[in-house]
Formats: sequence, C-alpha cells, structure tokens
Amino acid sequence: MSNTIARLDVTPTGGGVGAEVHDIDLRAIDDATFDAIHTAWVENAVLLFRGEHLTPGDLIAFSRRFGGLDLAPIQENGRRFVDGIPELYVVSNVLENGVAIGSLGAGEAVWHTDMSYLPEPPKASMLYALETPPAGGDTSFANMYAAWETLPADLKTRARGLRVKHDGTYNSGGYLRQGVTPTDDPRTSPGALHPLVCTHPDTGRRMLYLGRRRNAYIGGLETAESEALLDELWSYVDRPQFSWEHVWRVGDLVLWDNRCTMHRRDAFDPKQRRIMHRTQVKGELPPA
Ligand code: SIN
Repeated sequence: MSNTIARLDVTPTGGGVGAEVHDIDLRAIDDATFDAIHTAWVENAVLLFRGEHLTPGDLIAFSRRFGGLDLAPIQENGRRFVDGIPELYVVSNVLENGVAIGSLGAGEAVWHTDMSYLPEPPKASMLYALETPPAGGDTSFANMYAAWETLPADLKTRARGLRVKHDGTYNSGGYLRQGVTPTDDPRTSPGALHPLVCTHPDTGRRMLYLGRRRNAYIGGLETAESEALLDELWSYVDRPQFSWEHVWRVGDLVLWDNRCTMHRRDAFDPKQRRIMHRTQVKGELPPA
C-alpha cells in the first residue's frame, strides 16, 4: 500500500449492493489510486467502471494488482481460451467457423459464486464488456452480508456450524464441466464443503456462503432435510432489496468480491452477439 491517499468519485448503485467509480482509466492508475480502488471494492463488494478501453493485457495487468490470477476454467468444448493468456476466460455465445469462442452460451446463468467448488475459491472476479446485445444478458449481484443479516434468529442458529457442498459438476449455464461424470446426486457429486456461514477476512462481517443451488448438500443431513434447509436459506437470496442488476454497455468493467456476493445472468437472444472477458484473482484463504 502507498502512503499517498487518492480520492475517488464513488456513487452507490442505488441497488442492494455495489457502487460506480467515475472517471478512471484503469490502464493508467498509480499505486495510490489502486489502494483507493481496493478500499472501495472491500467496502462496496461490487464496483462498476464505465468507458474503459482494455486490451487483454491491460485487463490482466489491472487484475494482477489484486494478487495472483487463477487459470481460466476449461471451455465447454474442451478448449482453453486465448492463446498465450491462460488467465483470460471468454464468456460468449459467438461462434467462429462453427466453434464457440467462449462459454455460457446465451441462456440464463443461475446464481452462483465463481469456482466455489474448489477448496480455495477466487477472492475477486472481473468482467469486461467487449460486445453487448441490444437487450438481455444483464448481470445481477446479490449481497450475501444482507442475506445473512436478514435471516430469522432460528434459521441463523440452524445454519451456524453446518457445511455445504459447492457442486463442481455443472457450471452456472447448466453445462457439464470437463472431465466430470454427470450426476444429480448431491451426496456423491464432486465439490468442496465450505461453512454455510463465513466471516469476511477483510471486513470481519458475517455472510451466508451458498455457492450454487444445484447439487448443493448440507454435510451430515438426510438429503430431504438438507434440501428443505437449503430451500429456506435460498429464499433470502433472490430479493430485490439485496441485489443490483447491471445493464451492460461496451467498455464496462465490473469487479466483484467473490466471497460476499453471488451473481447471475439473464438469457438473451442467441442471434445477438455478446463477448465478455473475465479474470479471477486467487483466494488467499479457504472460506471460514
Ligand atoms: C459469469 O457468471 O461469470 C458470467 C456472467 C455474465 O455473463 O454476465
């Protein structure tokens, strides 16, 4: 961290999470500005920057300021993405010569935390818009601090001390991950067990840590009991007062704290083009 304090122009999104940072060129920030961005990210959980002009190299360089980067997951058709840039994940429905250039197609992507099926999921993700459809493909973010704080006391008591399976079988678009045998048995599906209630390492705040609904399983419970408790907990996630929906424009970069938010995406017309670049910053600690 630098000794100089930079001032940012930050305004809340007006939704249940996030803020917009104005008038920053992410290609040309100094250390003091980065420190201020980092502080704003921890405080607001999701940050929007508009009007950026980022090559893949610029996006990687900005992402690396937060820490080491995860390699992009393998694409649904088995390819890793951009040659020479294994940290860059392409989210797109576009086909070139009949081959998808990215993942997740044009369908809905359900609520999820990125790569939480790993023992140490990424702490941050960012998504940069290169091409956007005229309608749809909007991305929503849910505030998992707020979800925890709103739970009734008896539900908080039941959730404390339990661990939940974050499934690694399917991605958020419903596609089977590479090398995984399809299953809808949450007890045997691959994935990591994480505490249902975690404390954020930077803010010290508690949050509900659910990951994704499909094939989720609360360790040690009968399947029916696990399903019923998960349904109850998930009913606190999709509430408009705790979320913010972002309608993309080309040049937008959204940076989110992958520990205390979840996100989802609306479907869009598959005849329209949508191309986004995503990077992920390695987590430093397992969720606890
Ligand atoms: C993602 O889930 O990482 C992608 C979301 C989106 O396409 O907006």
